[in-house]
Amino acid sequence: MKKILLLGNGAREHVIAETFLRSADRPEIFVVGKTKNPGLAKLAMDYLLADVCDRDAIREFAHKVKPDFAFVGPEAPIAYGITDMLLEMGIKSASPLQTVGRLESSKSFTRNLLEKYAIPGNPKFKVFFSEDGIREFLESLEGNYVVKADGLKGGKGVKVSGDHLANMDEGGSYAKECILECGKVVIEEKFIGQEFSLMSFCDGDNTKDMPAVQDHKRAFDGDSGPNTGGMGTYSCANHSMPFLTESDLRQAADITRLVAKALKQETQSHFKGIMYGGFIAVKDGVRLIEYNARFGDPEAMNVLPLLKSDFVEICEAIISGDLNNVKIEFENKTTVCKYAVPNGYPDEPVKGEKIEIGEMPEGVRMYFGSVDEKEDGLYLAGSRAVAVVGIGDDVSAAEKLAEEGVSLINGPVFHRKDIGTKALIDSKVEMMKEVRGA
Ligand code: GLY
Repeated sequence: MKKILLLGNGAREHVIAETFLRSADRPEIFVVGKTKNPGLAKLAMDYLLADVCDRDAIREFAHKVKPDFAFVGPEAPIAYGITDMLLEMGIKSASPLQTVGRLESSKSFTRNLLEKYAIPGNPKFKVFFSEDGIREFLESLEGNYVVKADGLKGGKGVKVSGDHLANMDEGGSYAKECILECGKVVIEEKFIGQEFSLMSFCDGDNTKDMPAVQDHKRAFDGDSGPNTGGMGTYSCANHSMPFLTESDLRQAADITRLVAKALKQETQSHFKGIMYGGFIAVKDGVRLIEYNARFGDPEAMNVLPLLKSDFVEICEAIISGDLNNVKIEFENKTTVCKYAVPNGYPDEPVKGEKIEIGEMPEGVRMYFGSVDEKEDGLYLAGSRAVAVVGIGDDVSAAEKLAEEGVSLINGPVFHRKDIGTKALIDSKVEMMKEVRGA
């Protein structure tokens, strides 16, 4: 029986643990997480309550557990070199080392990598170390720009003209703020189109893609309101998206394959783990918005329940560089995931309030996120609280199940009712038709 050290305590890590436990080996899972996730706690052999970047605590726990390998859920431990520390202890991870994890933690690293290795998908972009030339570059982009802080900012470092930045003065001020904080800033062209996530397993040489997923970042129905970590997602039975052509999906997969190769050449290190490309379909193909070096949250909850292959075997192949010899299959089903989040989320979420959860209908999966389990029940911990996933043969069946399930979470919470509905998906297809001029 294998032992796996899992870092993280959200809904993403809950589904990761569940997927590990479907493996033929029935491994033992040892969790490190800041709060006690009741779902993970049920699945874990042992659970260390500690920050996922607490080197001393993790070292001591890993020393005691002696895991066969580690898996990291969130981005911060990768950026802070926890996988490197584990490797020094002789523990390999199916998650990347810090140097290749820069794919997520440094926006300028990734843009420069694509440029240096002539990989398609980059926007017009420039990296600035001072304010010199910022105004001129913003003007050259005719006011359609994105300003990206060059570090991990929990999804809050990217600001887009028209959405968060009303004019070039605001764009320039935010860029200066980023330089003060991170030493540099990336400014790039803004794209118009439909975004999608394509996550791929990667062993440093080979990539194997998962079904594509679309996330919904805005807090409220109709894609309105402030940006969030992601309110919900859907994936389709054919593993593509209704607004993508076959060539779009192939282009995205090719970019990831080429980036893995370039990373190896550039760093002499293999990217081992999950390469999560945030792409956008535009008028004439696909562009890269950003890479993450981990599973998406909620995207992990769309794809992992569909994984027919053995996840422990996949992780071992990622570590040994043998991914091409493992058959990776996903069920041809549709999924819709909806998050119940605290009232006031994301700006002023209520915290410490009790929630009650009714019995989920058959076919519905539920994953605990930012909740605290106390003796008398479950309490909101301030971020996305509970994710509910409906799985069906078509999108309307999956959406109905997800909606039914998420409505059974009672307390000061809300969710988006429109994610996965035909009306919202049709509007995205129509938008892409307009963008393509079809
Ligand atoms: N779905 C957004 C993220 O995981 O970063």
